[in-house]
Amino acid sequence: MNNKQLKERADKVIVGSYARYPAAMVKGSGCILTDAGGKEYLDFMAGIAVCALGHCHPLVTEAICRQAGELVHVSNLYYTEPQIRLAELITGNSFGEKLFLCNSGAEANEAAIKLARIYSDEGRYKIISLSGSFHGRTLATVAATGQPKFHKGFEPLPEGFVHAPFDDLQALEQLIDSSTCAILCEPLQGEGGVRPLGQKYLQGIKALCDKHNLLLIFDEIQTGLGRTGTLFAYQQLGIEPDILTMAKALGNGLPIGAMMTSSRIAAPLVPGTHASTFGGNPVACAAAVTTLEIMLADGFLAGVNEKGGYFQARLNTLVERFPTIISSVRGMGLLVGAVLSEQAVAHGTDIVNKMFDRGFLMNFAGGVALRFVPPLIVTEQEIDRLVAALGEVLAEL
Ligand SMILES: Cc1ncc(COP(=O)(O)O)c(C=O)c1O
Repeated sequence: MNNKQLKERADKVIVGSYARYPAAMVKGSGCILTDAGGKEYLDFMAGIAVCALGHCHPLVTEAICRQAGELVHVSNLYYTEPQIRLAELITGNSFGEKLFLCNSGAEANEAAIKLARIYSDEGRYKIISLSGSFHGRTLATVAATGQPKFHKGFEPLPEGFVHAPFDDLQALEQLIDSSTCAILCEPLQGEGGVRPLGQKYLQGIKALCDKHNLLLIFDEIQTGLGRTGTLFAYQQLGIEPDILTMAKALGNGLPIGAMMTSSRIAAPLVPGTHASTFGGNPVACAAAVTTLEIMLADGFLAGVNEKGGYFQARLNTLVERFPTIISSVRGMGLLVGAVLSEQAVAHGTDIVNKMFDRGFLMNFAGGVALRFVPPLIVTEQEIDRLVAALGEVLAEL
């Protein structure tokens, strides 16, 4: 079956909530994806920051196959070793002491929201998040998301979520009242246009949490698991949250998410308060354990930092060549954005489509920046190829 035939079949039977490119992917290896017509793509999307070790990493595939031959699912009525091993690995390399395992980013944020409410004193339920943020597509996480376009048509949204304007600590403090229990933010807004909050802003948020006795929740669903050059972004920013959520790269492609916190804060989550049938599935956990072992091995995270620096430097050559199109380059590690100038944002989607035609996958985030989240195993040569092709596309505009 070719791309067109597969598209026609899909359009008949799959809900049309995604704007898909006209390609059906059939194979992946490293940073290369192949579609049903045999066309190859250099992938700087990595399944939206998921396949951090590249497609079908042989050791992850081996771990999945091994675990699938032993035990696939038992629910959380029983213990399973891959789940325990995964929680040990993550807590052993972060501030966390306890993990709640689930299946996606939104579900991890739901767990964080429920924990913030149950942990906090009676009457405290309100969560403040930031404008431009993205926290997921369930009703509560949509309500937490600070972008009205995601709310439209789904009102009334659950109560208890307010959004503070970006980079305005005074306005944020004004939103805090006796019903507030937590501040939720991404250390760098990914979907919002690769917009780092920066250390000073984050320190200010942390100080407000301390002053008003609020929990600080970091949504590291996109920034976590090596993407920014440390296991979690908070580790290089020097600001420790009370609760942290992760998903995306955790299973290198298998669906898995987690909410992490301290033993003290996790204490109210007693039996019966929260659950997920598939959460901590042994196969997903086995994939995650191997993914983490590779990321934590000597040199891996340092390599992400180096390649991120190289990538930003190469993109900066395009800022020099096309100053009226690209105004700046920003990001952390291999979560990189090329910010389009005001006059060029109308061309964002067009640039991405032209790159797609040439066999390069990337996207346009937040209506402001070309976003690149390649597998963390990307090479400098692959970065050079992407930048050269982008230069050609920009020259044609
Ligand atoms: C920061 C952030 N939070 C939450 C989510 C939602 O994750 P999921 O799509 O796995 O539910 C995303 C997804 O893009 C994200 O980038």
